[in-house]
Amino acid sequence: MGESTQLEAHMDLAGRVALLTGASGGIGKALGRRLIEAGVSTAFAYGRNADEAERLVAEAKDAGVAAVALSADLADPEAPARLVGATVDALGPVDLLIPNAGHSEQRAYTEVDLETWERTLAVNLRAPFLLAQQVVPGMAERGYGRVLFMSSVAAFTGGIVGPHYAASKAGLHGLLHFLAARVAGQGVTVNAVAPALIEDTRMLPPSADPRGLPVGRFGRPEEVADLAMAVLRNGYLTNQVLSLDGGAYPR
Ligand SMILES: NC(=O)c1ccc[n+]([C@@H]2O[C@H](COP(=O)([O-])OP(=O)(O)OC[C@H]3O[C@@H](n4cnc5c(N)ncnc54)[C@H](OP(=O)(O)O)[C@@H]3O)[C@@H](O)[C@H]2O)c1
Repeated sequence: MGESTQLEAHMDLAGRVALLTGASGGIGKALGRRLIEAGVSTAFAYGRNADEAERLVAEAKDAGVAAVALSADLADPEAPARLVGATVDALGPVDLLIPNAGHSEQRAYTEVDLETWERTLAVNLRAPFLLAQQVVPGMAERGYGRVLFMSSVAAFTGGIVGPHYAASKAGLHGLLHFLAARVAGQGVTVNAVAPALIEDTRMLPPSADPRGLPVGRFGRPEEVADLAMAVLRNGYLTNQVLSLDGGAYPR
């Protein structure tokens, strides 16, 4: 194979295995569709909304792509290992890990109780770490892997949800920098996308106002999915947090 053909083969995601959490949410569904289009065998993980994940499985089957819907409450520290095990059993070793599930409860900082803090950190930061801890060693051994965390502009600006949410997303940045440096030489990239306000998601806070963004509109789930696919295809991009925020940060 020539050098350019080799590179194209590497960028082609067809036949790879992905684990996508939050597949039943607005961004997850858009990204799930892009993974199906790219021929990626995907485990669509959901929390409570099985129907949305099952619909993606049906779409994948129609396209001749292997897929499975898996339920997991990612606040449970045992769930990440179970999820990875079920994905490997159904589809094979994970090549693309996308911990996209997120928990968001809008609270004044004076009103953040211990339960809200713990749950937010568990779903948004601990679960992504435990998932990565499960799959990254195998990726490194096989010489190929992509980890893509779903951060938020709140990690940079503080945002509008609350300190618990901002802190959980900022924690992902430290995590990715630590991991990326250790596996860069083994074909594994570790990055994050940090969106601002994305419409057609359950998470968009009712108080959100698109006029507060320089572009003057909310982002689309498809725009997040599009950037995510570019990151997943690119083997030379690692250790980065890519802002997708309509110019919200820096201003
Ligand atoms: N929407 C925005 O404006 C925005 C901005 C910046 C960053 N983000 C990030 O983007 C990611 C995707 O969110 P979204 O915008 O698509 O919002 P969404 O429509 O509310 O989707 C959230 C997803 O997370 C899953 N989830 C929540 N808690 C869970 C738990 N305990 N266990 C397992 N899954 C759980 C939900 O599953 P079920 O519905 O099945 O329970 C759902 O699939 C999140 O990490 C979020 O923080 C979103």
